[in-house]
Amino acid sequence: MRVLTFFNHAGGASKSSSARDVGYTLATMGFRVLLIDTDPQANLSAWLGVQGAPFARTVHLTATANRPLPEPFEVAGGMHLIPSTLQLAMVDAQLPGVVGGVLRLRRHVRDLKGRYDFVLIDSPPSLGQLSALAAIAADDLIVPVPTVEKGLQGLPNVLEMVENYGEVAPDLRVAFFLPTQYNAQTSHHKEALAYLRANVSPVGTPISYRPAIYPDAAAARQPVPLYAPGSAAAADIRRATEEILAALGVSAPNDNAEGERAEA
Ligand SMILES: Nc1ncnc2c1ncn2[C@@H]1O[C@H](COP(=O)(O)OP(=O)(O)OP(=O)(O)O)[C@@H](O)[C@H]1O
Ligand SMILES: [Mg+2]
Repeated sequence: MRVLTFFNHAGGASKSSSARDVGYTLATMGFRVLLIDTDPQANLSAWLGVQGAPFARTVHLTATANRPLPEPFEVAGGMHLIPSTLQLAMVDAQLPGVVGGVLRLRRHVRDLKGRYDFVLIDSPPSLGQLSALAAIAADDLIVPVPTVEKGLQGLPNVLEMVENYGEVAPDLRVAFFLPTQYNAQTSHHKEALAYLRANVSPVGTPISYRPAIYPDAAAARQPVPLYAPGSAAAADIRRATEEILAALGVSAPNDNAEGERAEA
């Protein structure tokens, strides 16, 4: 089981979109996937059709009362989801008073070993307790970065936080930088991508900006590759997922099955 947290304190970096779509793609490859939403905005939950979930079905009691994780909801592609709700914002206020509180998600997620191949955690756009809880729970961080100047400006802060979290999670590292919302028509985007490649590693192939698909997929409560299968957007996600697997040194469970089908 690998625990990956989609992490970037900058808002609108495509954390939730990437967690949803990479998670779905991993599920279609045959991996058992659990998504955990730790953002009180709860976009990931809403986009997968889980809104207004009982507070007890969020990570709230795990974080504040050291309870095992709640039963997940089943969502698109057979993925499981532990959703968030707006009330989860309270955890940011409660956790500083709880010794070892930010370590609890890490411990309880590891108790799920054997049930899942991948746990994907979506983190909020802040550097508060919920972000720490989410990042520290991970084996590896995936950092989505929009290919604009503003996206690059936040990078030093991301790297500094990873170093800070490393005090309690020494093996934590950024496994993959995922350029997002890329527009190849624009020199500004090309320059930002080049800057990213020159300064951090590994940097994946960018996911293109597709304003016609993303809002519609969200409204349809579906991951992009389910809403628009066969689209260039779905191909972007598939490639990003394969690159993430390669960065992690994991091979797809049904690689052989696909090979056999291709031969048949
Ligand atoms: N490749 C894309 N093309 C077009 N729109 C996109 C793309 N990726 C994400 N979006 C849209 O941009 C917005 C921000 O994306 P998303 O919510 O995934 O980012 P986030 O990092 O999770 O944001 P937050 O920090 O608020 O949690 C969303 O409305 C999403 O639908
Ligand atoms: Mg988000």
